[in-house]
Amino acid sequence: MKIRMRVPATTANLGPGFDVFGGALALYNEFEAEYVTSGRTKFVLKGYGKRALAKGEKNLLWQAMAETFKVLGCDKYNLKNLNITINTGIPLSGGLGSSASAIVGGIALANALCGNKLNKAQMAQLGMRIEGHPDNVAPAVYGGLCVCAKEGGNAADNSKNTDVVKLPVPNLKVVMCAPSFELRTKRSRQILPKNVSLCDAVFNTSRVALLTAAFCTGDYSLLKKGMQDKIHQPYREKMIPAMDAVIKSALDAGAYGAFLSGSGPSIAALCNKKDAEGVQKAMVKTWKKESVSVKSYILDFDRHGVSQI
Ligand code: HSE
Repeated sequence: MKIRMRVPATTANLGPGFDVFGGALALYNEFEAEYVTSGRTKFVLKGYGKRALAKGEKNLLWQAMAETFKVLGCDKYNLKNLNITINTGIPLSGGLGSSASAIVGGIALANALCGNKLNKAQMAQLGMRIEGHPDNVAPAVYGGLCVCAKEGGNAADNSKNTDVVKLPVPNLKVVMCAPSFELRTKRSRQILPKNVSLCDAVFNTSRVALLTAAFCTGDYSLLKKGMQDKIHQPYREKMIPAMDAVIKSALDAGAYGAFLSGSGPSIAALCNKKDAEGVQKAMVKTWKKESVSVKSYILDFDRHGVSQI
């Protein structure tokens, strides 16, 4: 038995929606598990993760599979009877949901091997518990644009459920620039303040309202203000010095809005198809001025989330 899953990249926060907003992108990792009854098993890495990812027990895909087997009470499968192949099409530098993709891929593979006992909502809750914050996992499972509301609101409390609501998928391109340097989410969260001022909270609440209105009404002119943020991007800028300049260059080139993708260092812009190449050129040029090379993409939103292929 051989099972293959495709899981989209994701972009989280979308500016002010820290740990709340996330969108799935048409850029994918593929994960395969094959049950074998004899011989030595293989753990194969391909694509961006070929040299960078751990094999075996330390691999995040495997850890998510093992956790899912445990949840399902299924002890038939282990690394001695499964060939695993990971083909990484999502850059690992950060901000594109590569960890969430591995977690969701692992849950989906293990679930399929055990007879698909979990539905998407149950897979999402399990994935969000493993990842800690929901905003990459939800779109990786469901596709499209998701709003996540965790019970209790404490990102560190993994016992809580999270409500997920899908918003209309914008008919826009996502220009994504993933720089050559890496920034781990853990590090990028450590730099954030424990508390924010009422003033900054009101600023972000108003921008999240504009962001939601933009997606629900299709009035994308609201995105320029609606993607402003005061609770995470200004702190993270210290580790991503080009951030403000790259966002400004995207807006000047005609993007509706631009933001730090997830915890960075990738930066994303939303724009019309006709403006996408110009926005991409402007963003890449600004990164280059800071002597940073980037992988850049013009992407559609993915509408399906994790899928068996
Ligand atoms: N919202 C997270 C953060 C990243 O900005 O740290 C994605 O889960």
